[in-house]
Amino acid sequence: MNRKVSKAIFPVAGLGTRFLPATKSVPKEIMTLVDRPLIQYAIDEARAAGIEDFIFVTSRGKSALEDYFDCAPDLEAALEASGKTELLKILRSTNMESGTIAYLRQHKALGLGHAVSCARKLIGDEPFAVILPDDVIAGETPCLQQMVEAYQETGGAMVATMEVSPAQTSSYGVLDIKSQDGPIVSVKGMVEKPAPGTAPSNLAVIGRYILTPQVLANLDTIERGAGGEIQLTDAIAEEIRTGRDVFGYRFTGQRYDCGSKAGFLQATVAFALARDELREEFADFLAEMHAVRQAAQ
Ligand code: G1P
Repeated sequence: MNRKVSKAIFPVAGLGTRFLPATKSVPKEIMTLVDRPLIQYAIDEARAAGIEDFIFVTSRGKSALEDYFDCAPDLEAALEASGKTELLKILRSTNMESGTIAYLRQHKALGLGHAVSCARKLIGDEPFAVILPDDVIAGETPCLQQMVEAYQETGGAMVATMEVSPAQTSSYGVLDIKSQDGPIVSVKGMVEKPAPGTAPSNLAVIGRYILTPQVLANLDTIERGAGGEIQLTDAIAEEIRTGRDVFGYRFTGQRYDCGSKAGFLQATVAFALARDELREEFADFLAEMHAVRQAAQ
């Protein structure tokens, strides 16, 4: 099968209830780390990996996402007129070429697997990527690019993976390991959100996938899984059961769980400290906060 990965699905239909009341009117994916929305990080990563077609699976209340990816001619003209060329450059870097983004609605909240299967007609018969924008991964080589490169060698289906503590495995899809060769893990099973104490390893699935059309076909036939939802993990595990290859890829980079408040705040601090124009002042402020806290203890 062809190994060029040019399409990516972004499941963005979630309600973001963990961030209420903010998410009452702002989609979670528009929330910003410093000054860029979560979704922009996901798009930038996809572009770096060679993705050309971007498929958003949305739901009610997500129209701000579509507006975000529209061009802003008035704003561009105003910045141009006032000579704000740096800002203009930043703004233009977010423009998407016409015809490269598609929006689909997931009409019922039936789970991640169901969201991905909503895009089946736009994927057709080629491998594709899935990016969960909640998982923000910072690193020199973007995570999906690392995976696309590895995938040229392995084929099959591939999921990003990293070690988590045994106490956390029940929040993730978890890999059952057959063998390991550097960053590539050969997988003999996968379980979505295993009950505490039953996980087959502590290698968790992180929100980057390279999948085959066969996985989409599996989504039509599998039963509902963990939480009564149609699980992407189960459709990938089905590949293993039918004798096809599935790999985990231990990416290099720092992952932030921006679906949780603590993870979102950690990412905010890390991304602020990575900015030349903010670093010094912000680091001083953090040191001061730390000192005040120490003194109070
Ligand atoms: C989803 C997947 C899970 C994966 C996780 C990574 O779960 O179902 O397999 O480990 O993303 O962030 P969710 O976080 O949506 O519950």
